[in-house]
Amino acid sequence: MALRKIVEVGDPCLAKVCRPVTAFNSRLHALLDDMTETLAEVGGAGLAAPQVGILRRAVIVLDEESETYLELVNPEIVKAEDEQTGLEGCLSVPGKWGIVTRPAVVRVRAQDRYGDWFEAEAEGMTARCFCHELEHLDGHLYTEHIDHFLSEEELRAYLEAEEEGE
Ligand code: NI
Repeated sequence: MALRKIVEVGDPCLAKVCRPVTAFNSRLHALLDDMTETLAEVGGAGLAAPQVGILRRAVIVLDEESETYLELVNPEIVKAEDEQTGLEGCLSVPGKWGIVTRPAVVRVRAQDRYGDWFEAEAEGMTARCFCHELEHLDGHLYTEHIDHFLSEEELRAYLEAEEEGE
């Protein structure tokens, strides 16, 4: 396994529509292993292949509940219910945060690294992450959903309010 370089906003890879994965071979497995290692290294919640410069439909999402990394190949959202509004950032937009409204419950259908289809459902942060990462595969960033990045004061106030609410 190896760490891959995460590209940042402005890189053309982040604006492209990615092609489906068609070969479930050792190259794909190496990509998924590298993406998971890279994500774990930076302590992120999700990573999409275009963020490491690969224009294929594959993402890694940290499943909050099981604390495991989900590999989603050719994923699509099959159910999205209710709403949640919360803090969102992106490894390709470092050091910035915004408030984004997403579905509260999201179910995805995807292939695993061997090409077998499965479904996974999540709520909270993981549901948010499904939406965020899948948008990367179509060349979109969460920044399209916000009217401004949070200032340091706004971020601090948000985190304090969240702590009080727990
Ligand atoms: Ni992102």
